[in-house]
Amino acid sequence: MKVRLLGTAAGGGVPQWNCACDGCAAARRAGVARSQDCVAISGDQRSWYLLNASPDLRAQILSAPELAPGPGRRDTPIRGVLLSTAELDHALGLLTLREAEALSVYASATVLAALDGPLGLRRALAAYTDVSWQALAPGEDIHLNGGLRVCATVVGAKRPRYAADADGGDWVVAYRITDPRTGGVLVYAPCLPAFDPSLVEGADCALLDGTFLDEDEMVRATGGGRSATAMGHLPVSVSRRTLTRPGVRRLLYTHLNNTNPLAVGGGEDVAEDGLTLTL
Ligand code: MLT
Ligand code: MN
Ligand code: ZN
Repeated sequence: MKVRLLGTAAGGGVPQWNCACDGCAAARRAGVARSQDCVAISGDQRSWYLLNASPDLRAQILSAPELAPGPGRRDTPIRGVLLSTAELDHALGLLTLREAEALSVYASATVLAALDGPLGLRRALAAYTDVSWQALAPGEDIHLNGGLRVCATVVGAKRPRYAADADGGDWVVAYRITDPRTGGVLVYAPCLPAFDPSLVEGADCALLDGTFLDEDEMVRATGGGRSATAMGHLPVSVSRRTLTRPGVRRLLYTHLNNTNPLAVGGGEDVAEDGLTLTL
């Protein structure tokens, strides 16, 4: 399996356009730029799937040679998108894909209903392209073109702000992606309110929620906002402690918020835009 990290920042990116917090200022000084969380995966390097669709998707696709179109004039190796949440930083890129001739989008029933209801994105997109919307059943395997097998686990119930009144339970999922030919396993969990080590057991690489380093970081950095827990994100300082013997070969924190010092400082366990993995 080939994996390309297209973007590794939380909503707003790093630096955020309207933010002069210490983190954003440091990013501007250091010339650090992270685009919003999005990953491309493939089992055969011909069919590619996106894990989430970030608002930065057009630039992310253009910067990934694997995702270049051809050989036909409108051929694209991008076959579909698997959403892990209905959050805007994970779903708005679907609008950028409206030129596609066809697209498969997988998400939980709750997420599909939010995209249809309060956001109206499904109706809008239907006027441009032919989308096959597929409701995932947590715990059941999906078979992707190119040979990958994907299984979703519900990990959280945090609603996006635009869907504060919507019903449903499976708002946030994590994905376990397996390549049956190589045995390689990727776990993708960029929004993780609590950590259960069985989630990453046996994975060759786990992309975990790196939104915040500390619980009250956002409030301290911006003088507003909410705690990590209130936003459904387990702080890295807590998950690092929990993960002393994680049962996973490589762990990379992603979906880094611009208030998180790791977004500029980086580190051995911090994801970077453009990183590619072979699992
Ligand atoms: C989140 O990850 O908590 C959301 O994307 C926050 C947001 O940008 O609304
Ligand atoms: Mn987010
Ligand atoms: Zn900032």
